[in-house]
Amino acid sequence: SIVYLNGDYVRLGDAKVSVLDRGFIFGDGIYDVVPAYNGKPFRMDGHLARLERSLAAIDIKVDLKRADWEALVLDLLKRSGLGDCMVYIQVTRGVAKRDHGFPANTPATIFCMVSPFARPGAAAREQGLSAVGIPDVRWLRCEIKSVSLLGNVLAKQHAVDAGVDEVLQFRDGYLSEGSSCNIWMVKNGELLAPPRSNLILEGIRYGLMEELADADGIAFAARPISQQEVDEADELMLSSATKELLPITRYNGKPVGSGKPGPVYARLRAGYDKAIE
Ligand code: PDD
Repeated sequence: SIVYLNGDYVRLGDAKVSVLDRGFIFGDGIYDVVPAYNGKPFRMDGHLARLERSLAAIDIKVDLKRADWEALVLDLLKRSGLGDCMVYIQVTRGVAKRDHGFPANTPATIFCMVSPFARPGAAAREQGLSAVGIPDVRWLRCEIKSVSLLGNVLAKQHAVDAGVDEVLQFRDGYLSEGSSCNIWMVKNGELLAPPRSNLILEGIRYGLMEELADADGIAFAARPISQQEVDEADELMLSSATKELLPITRYNGKPVGSGKPGPVYARLRAGYDKAIE
């Protein structure tokens, strides 16, 4: 497949970056993942706005303007010929002698690829996923979509080792997010999510979920959610570009609510399906 690297279109196997790239040496970079359906990006504006926020947050400057990013994403999608797929964009602080401080006059490394995307199947949608709770040991700038993902990687491996699909992370006893997804809870018909803050990555689906809840008359509140509330949730669900919106029906080895995907999930899921049509 054809990927974009620093202005060139090359085959994936021919795309090479120096071992001195600060992404490799320090994890000094950011990324984003834009889903596409039928070759068309979904919520691209939101993803590119977040990409620009991430770049600004760590002070990486690039020549690409919003229209250039859009053209790049659309061009790569076209070249890929793929239908349901995801566009991965990564920008690092470039190649420089190893030194923690920012290098002067070093161009950023810009990489972009399109990969096939296996949409969650009927089993996940109809039976739901399993999850366990763990402490959130990540840093305090989780709002930046950084490629320094060690905390997220270890969190996901915890799920793999525990034989479950996902983890719910708790910071000081309060829900933050999954290993690479946002978490939603329902209690007495009300949809709840941890508030936007430095402790979570604000998913592009975060705003979408607010819109879907609003359009369907589902009450929504963003507020801190304690471990005990999660234990007693009527419904739990997760959202991300690649997982879309999925119910979590087993938590810490016990059924969540009825143990089946709940009614609020069903309504939001219908809205999600409509949005991506
Ligand atoms: N992950 N929180 C974290 C830590 C994430 O990594 C992601 C996305 C989300 C959900 O964001 P969105 O709705 O914009 O996908 C929340 C992507 C998919 C990834 O790392 O592959």
